Amino acid sequence: MEIRDLRAGDGDALRALWQAAGIRIRPGDDDASLGALAARNPGLCIVGTEDGRIVASALAGFDGRRGWLYHVATDPEMRRRGVATRMVQTIEERLRTLGCRKLNLIVWDDNTEAMRFWEANGYERDPTIEYSKRLGET
Ligand SMILES: CC(C)(COP(=O)(O)OP(=O)(O)OC[C@H]1O[C@@H](n2cnc3c(N)ncnc32)[C@H](O)[C@@H]1OP(=O)(O)O)[C@@H](O)C(=O)NCCC(=O)NCCS
Repeated sequence: MEIRDLRAGDGDALRALWQAAGIRIRPGDDDASLGALAARNPGLCIVGTEDGRIVASALAGFDGRRGWLYHVATDPEMRRRGVATRMVQTIEERLRTLGCRKLNLIVWDDNTEAMRFWEANGYERDPTIEYSKRLGET
């Protein structure tokens, strides 16, 4: 698998991957939003490809204090081969270089497979509850 930065034009393939991976497509997943995230975070929004086909994704942002990870996904046919681990490790290394000390992510409370994955990669479950507020229609 090759790892490269997300490009304009990857949106449809990414949304197909996320749908196949059981990730609900939500605001922030449209082409313009993905492009904005990638432009603000060079090298932190990456895709994994096999023969040019996108088989994995991992998006991250660094706000100067924390890193945040989004949409870590592996094609169902490619799982348990270390694909997502490679993607996450790539982002971790790049964030470390940028001076980021802590990387956060959100897991839906019924996604036990993802929890096992994060624990296998050294992530700890924090005793926190997430709050959010929508600031617009989308
Ligand atoms: C979670 C996900 C990204 C893991 O991708 P992957 O490429 O299969 O992960 P890896 O092969 O790097 O797994 C590394 C380790 O994590 C653990 N792990 C991964 N998937 C697991 C599962 N389904 N059940 C239990 N442990 C799992 C294992 O310890 C695994 O090592 P092993 O295969 O040697 O036992 C993938 O299952 C996926 O795309 N899920 C749907 C989307 C999703 O939930 N994303 C996370 C949102 S928070």
